[in-house]
Amino acid sequence: MAKETMRLDRFLVLSGACKSRTDAKKCLHDHCVYVNDRPVSSAELQVHPLEDTIEVNGRTYRYVANRYFLLNKPKGVVSATKDRISETVLSLIPEADAKEYFPVGRLDKDTEGLLLITNDGELAHCITSPRHEIKKTYFVRITGVLQKAEEARLNKGISFEEFTSKSAEYKFLREDSEESECLLTITEGKFHEVKRLFHAVGHEVLYLKRISIGGLVLPEEMKPGEYREYTLEQLNEAIFTVD
Ligand code: URA
Repeated sequence: MAKETMRLDRFLVLSGACKSRTDAKKCLHDHCVYVNDRPVSSAELQVHPLEDTIEVNGRTYRYVANRYFLLNKPKGVVSATKDRISETVLSLIPEADAKEYFPVGRLDKDTEGLLLITNDGELAHCITSPRHEIKKTYFVRITGVLQKAEEARLNKGISFEEFTSKSAEYKFLREDSEESECLLTITEGKFHEVKRLFHAVGHEVLYLKRISIGGLVLPEEMKPGEYREYTLEQLNEAIFTVD
C-alpha cells in the first residue's frame, strides 16, 4: 500500500488541497506546490501519498483514504463517536479512529442491526439526505396485532408535532394476540421514528433491528458486534441500485 503512487493533480484534489484538476493545474502553474521541499509544476508527477510531504501555499496536505465498515450494531451501545457513560459503536471497530470516523445516521441504544461507519462525509450525506429517499427496512416485534385500519394509517403517513411521516410499507411476518413481527420500510430517519409510528397506532416496539439500507442487506450470518469492511463501489452498487 505504502508503495502505491498517484498523479500529483489527483492527489491535490483528493486531499482537499484543490477543488478540481483545473484548480490543481493553476496551483502548479503558479508554483504554489512543493513535493518534499522542491517546487513542482507537473500535474503528471507520480507521488507516494503516504510517504511524500506535499505542500500547497505553505500548508501540508495528506491524503486520507475513505473506508467503510458495515456493523451489526448490538444492543446497549450508542451510535456516537464518544459517550461519557456507554460504549460507542466506534469502540467496536479498532481500525476506525473515533476522531475521523462516524456512524451514518443513528440507531437507538436498544436497536440492533445494520449501521455503516465511515470517514466519508459525502457518502454519509447521500444516504441520510431526505432528498434521496433511501429506503430503510426494519424487522420489528410489536405488542398485539396490527389492525387493517392501523396499517392504512402507517401507509398514509402520520402527523407528529415536527413532521408528517411519508408512506411506510408494512409487511406482516407473524401474528399473535400478544405480539407480532413485521418488516417496516421507511424513507426518512427521524428520531425514534419506527417506535413513534407504532406508538401512534397503539402498539409498542418490543424489539427493533435494521436489516437494510437501500439494496444493502445485513448479511444474515453476521452476529451482533461483528463488522465487515466494504469498498465504496460495493456500497454504491448495493445501496443505490435497487430493483
Ligand atoms: N426508529 C426507531 O425508533 N429507532 C431506531 O433505532 C431506528 C429507527
